[in-house]
Amino acid sequence: MSLEVRAFDAPLGAEIIGLDLNDPLGPETVETINQAFFDHHVLAIRDQDISMDRFMDVAGCFGTLQSQHVKHYAHPNTDKVSMISPQLNDDRSGPNAKPLYRGITFHTDHSYFPVPCKATLLHAKQTPSKGGDTRFLNMHTVYDDLTEEMKNKVDGLNCLHRLAGSRRNKTGRVMSDEEIQNSPTAVHPLVWVHEDTGRKAIYFNPNRMDGIEGWSDEDSDALLDELEALSFQARYEYRHKWKPHDVVIWDNRSVLHAATDDYDEPRLLHRILLEGTKPS
Ligand SMILES: [Fe+2]
Repeated sequence: MSLEVRAFDAPLGAEIIGLDLNDPLGPETVETINQAFFDHHVLAIRDQDISMDRFMDVAGCFGTLQSQHVKHYAHPNTDKVSMISPQLNDDRSGPNAKPLYRGITFHTDHSYFPVPCKATLLHAKQTPSKGGDTRFLNMHTVYDDLTEEMKNKVDGLNCLHRLAGSRRNKTGRVMSDEEIQNSPTAVHPLVWVHEDTGRKAIYFNPNRMDGIEGWSDEDSDALLDELEALSFQARYEYRHKWKPHDVVIWDNRSVLHAATDDYDEPRLLHRILLEGTKPS
């Protein structure tokens, strides 16, 4: 069966059909997948019953694997794989223990580092019978749809990104005072020119920012609130419904993503991050 890239009926995303990731990936296949990645930003490959080692090998065909920042969630055998599971990610042991749902607001991974990861890959080891979708927003289209006045306003601005940023949603993982004090910080352009395609996208991380560089908090919050409202619209969204053995890869330079917390059955995804380059 030959490889087919089938775009979703959505503003972004495509399924790769006709691929068995247990087989070696030849250069033509890697090139086809890379091109689909640039064109569609989110790729899903269904029914991939592969080992963790094979998942790492496959990821390595598309970039350099990055060590996981939060060691607490890393797989016990390697810090190149993180375990996404509300049950395993519970960091409050004892009688108050409860599942921890991570990443449930729209974000891009690791923007608070000077060189953010370019891509994230997930492999579904166990999925709930319903719920637990992952949502994606096409940030190229968000930029393209801005008025000329707004494009002129945002082009050239820089954003301050911080893990414990002032715009942080306080319902997520509890951070220690030390972690907040030592929170990684980076400055990135608000409009990111994609290094492989040259397309512009709004690059921000609603939950991990302190604001616009050089602007007052009031003016900065007003603009970021406006951009969030413009971005968080169904017309920019693809919603992935997970099945066991799904592999999904997305471009953190092109999309925002969010998990959902509407399930209580066990769920486990393996996550790999690929190193990026400094934004321009
Ligand atoms: Fe994430």
